[in-house]
Amino acid sequence: MSLRLGDVAPDFTADTTQGKINFHEWLGDSWGMLFSHPADFTPVCTTELGKTALLKGEFEKRGVKTIAVSVDDLESHNKWVPDIEEVNGVTMNFPIIADEERKVAELYDMIHPNASAKATVRSVFIIGPDKTIKLMLTYPASTGRNFTELLRVIDSLQLTANHSVATPADWKDGDDAIVVPSISTEDAIKKFPKGVKEVKPYLRYTPQPNK
Ligand code: BEZ
Repeated sequence: MSLRLGDVAPDFTADTTQGKINFHEWLGDSWGMLFSHPADFTPVCTTELGKTALLKGEFEKRGVKTIAVSVDDLESHNKWVPDIEEVNGVTMNFPIIADEERKVAELYDMIHPNASAKATVRSVFIIGPDKTIKLMLTYPASTGRNFTELLRVIDSLQLTANHSVATPADWKDGDDAIVVPSISTEDAIKKFPKGVKEVKPYLRYTPQPNK
């Protein structure tokens, strides 16, 4: 059965380039980003894994642990890691799951048979500290992910989890947020002391509450 937003992220135990992990234990109280790759020694994946390693500080700032998965074995991952490091000028600093039996790929529905019978597509799952799935994105193998967007969406998820706001189109950290429709403008004025701007009765902006 396919996963939906709000579902508990399936737990699993797997071998990784940083040793055996139990996924939920490994996550602890952190946010998590689990993302799949079609295969080792592929060009787009080499850039994506390097980019994730380069952005470690940005993920850490947001309390997000990153973990990659591909359906190759540990020996193959360990041979590929030096290439990722050389090409991207970075030391690998997060685990890659060896999923040669496709246990994780199947749990997370990462194989889309009409795209490829064997390889995983580029799935991304953002998981909250409560272990539920907050975001799912699916890209084809031929399109590398936009990591600025992944960080942006994590900022929105973390803001909206803690404040009664939503984020508008193209919002980025620091921009005004939208007051959720369930709050009246009268209550919003009390709740958001930085101010509320009513554009329509149902579209009210407030400066980002956690800044
Ligand atoms: C890649 O991961 O680099 C890739 C995989 C399939 C098609 C094109 C690129």
